[in-house]
Amino acid sequence: MSVILSILAAGSLPALIFGAPVPSLLSRDVAVADVQSLQTRSSSSYTTLFGGDGTTAAGWPSMDSWVATYDEMFEANKATMSAGCSAYGFENDSEDEINDINNAIKSVSASSGVDARFILAIVMQESTGCVRVGGTNNGVFNPGLMQSHNGKGTCNTGVPLSPCPSDEITQMITDGTTGTVDGPGLQQLLQEAASPKYGASGATMYYLAARMYNSGSIAPDGNLGQGGATACYASDVANRLLGWSTGPTACQAAEIASLTYAKPASGGDSSPAPTTTTDPVASATAPAVSVTVSLDPTATATPTATPIDTTPVAPPTTTTTTTPPPAATSAATSSTSSATTTLLGPVYPGAVSTCQQWTLVVSGDYCLEVENDVGISASQFMDWNPGLDAACSNLWLGYEYCVKA
Ligand SMILES: *[C@@H]1O[C@H](CO)[C@@H](O)[C@H](O)[C@H]1NC(C)=O
Repeated sequence: MSVILSILAAGSLPALIFGAPVPSLLSRDVAVADVQSLQTRSSSSYTTLFGGDGTTAAGWPSMDSWVATYDEMFEANKATMSAGCSAYGFENDSEDEINDINNAIKSVSASSGVDARFILAIVMQESTGCVRVGGTNNGVFNPGLMQSHNGKGTCNTGVPLSPCPSDEITQMITDGTTGTVDGPGLQQLLQEAASPKYGASGATMYYLAARMYNSGSIAPDGNLGQGGATACYASDVANRLLGWSTGPTACQAAEIASLTYAKPASGGDSSPAPTTTTDPVASATAPAVSVTVSLDPTATATPTATPIDTTPVAPPTTTTTTTPPPAATSAATSSTSSATTTLLGPVYPGAVSTCQQWTLVVSGDYCLEVENDVGISASQFMDWNPGLDAACSNLWLGYEYCVKA
């Protein structure tokens, strides 16, 4: 984060709610997608200049083509990370410090719901993982591994600290991921990207959030190679998510700003990413969602441990309980949809204002099931929830959708 002026005032951000868009692998009337094994890219170099608005239509990578697992991505970045301090002239990270970074990313990812691969990409982008990195100040102090928005975590308040204590490392990852009292972190920016203002879903949310993390805003025309600060930032982050872990960026600020589509980097591997399909069976093992959102606007909900956007809403394997939920905190564990007038989660922002009944989207839901369970047609469901796409690929987990108006 280099120049964040507080465009997103902390007070204007939504409460910490669970409910990022959930990529659906299920077409509207197909309950179980074909099972294919997950493929990953193998290139560790910078393959593509990602120009334009961050959409797959403009050639940006979908999450299917990201490095398959966080562990694999961390391993691939370890060597670069262990030499990361040399650019700053400080003592390199020790094995213990690198292990602490790894554990901090995993634990903050689990508690915030932000994809660990995205956190790691931002760490590498901001500091090359150097725990002793200094802070910058271009109006806002940006310290630590993620150069957070005036965060508390740092191992360099003028003098590089060695060893860097593990709680300080965790604080740096927390500041950048979940935000600070002064400014947003990745978690809030992902929500901003998914909000009606931008309406992003899937991988695009992450590319928009990366742009906002770096410069605080997105250029009016939506081009992520513009908007101030580091022009190549979003393209760099996309390459990191695809596996870039060694060598310099192939992106030039002057070129990226005028691109509106993805273009093979010169000298890089220009072969397109393989088309992949996430295994829905594996995805179905994701933890059940427990929505703990309170309707009290002054209350702060605790996000659950399910990572944002990596858990497709998979079809249920069983039909379950008709027992009314005893409390809001456990209501969302049911996989049976029912219409209610009592809200147990945040309202889907696109829902019609005349809505009379709602249903909470829980883990296991998909459009056809919701429609069948509450007895409405697909066109009614879409009419009452503008923004839902025809393929139902953007149902948001943990949100209340309108089922009667
Ligand atoms: C950090 O690691 C790099 C790469 O191994 C090395 O060239 C450099 O000398 C190291 N810096 C220090 C201060 O040890």
